[in-house]
Amino acid sequence: MIGNERCNAVALSHFLLKQKVGLGDRVVDATCGNGHDTLFLAQLVGPAGRVWGFDIQRRALAATECLLAGHGCRDRVELLEAGHERIGDLVPEPLAAVIFNLGYLPGGDRQIVTRPETTLQALSSAADMLLPRGLLLAVVYTGHAGGAEEGDVVEQWAADVASDRFCVWTCRRPNRHATSPWLLVVEKGTR
Ligand SMILES: C[S@@+](CC[C@H](N)C(=O)[O-])C[C@H]1O[C@@H](n2cnc3c(N)ncnc32)[C@H](O)[C@@H]1O
Repeated sequence: MIGNERCNAVALSHFLLKQKVGLGDRVVDATCGNGHDTLFLAQLVGPAGRVWGFDIQRRALAATECLLAGHGCRDRVELLEAGHERIGDLVPEPLAAVIFNLGYLPGGDRQIVTRPETTLQALSSAADMLLPRGLLLAVVYTGHAGGAEEGDVVEQWAADVASDRFCVWTCRRPNRHATSPWLLVVEKGTR
């Protein structure tokens, strides 16, 4: 990952997920989009695992479904046409990992974006649902309308997370442009 062309926030998120998620695990993709993270998780958890994938756009879920089917991974994924802020109601099990990829659907309607209020609700619920040592990741984009404001509230949320229960990092690329996506990493402790 490090040192190649794909050294970006998404590649770093996948690198971290790979360290953490294994066969049989329960995980969530909070923003399916075109399904790349969902597929990555589905491959990591294998046939005995379970992935819940959220998106509010039917078009995104259709793209995700198609990608999963093409890779023989549809069986282990539950796709939910719902906001990720409902994660606590719709996901019945504790989780090894949750990933968010904020912003708009690449190639889709740029007016339909993740929003600070629902993102915060979802981050808090997802953090509560992590297993001990579970991992919550969020790739944060700040270049689109509303993105900088969302980035600010995510950063404030991260600063307020209980430090005796969670380890929190923000990973940025200081030698790239100011709106380069950054990665929030939250690992739950064992207490
Ligand atoms: C940047 S894209 C995700 C990219 C995706 N991870 C991939 O690999 O292609 C963000 C997605 O979040 C979705 N979204 C926006 N608000 C949402 C919400 N409240 N709950 C779930 N998904 C939401 C959008 O519809 C969009 O598809």
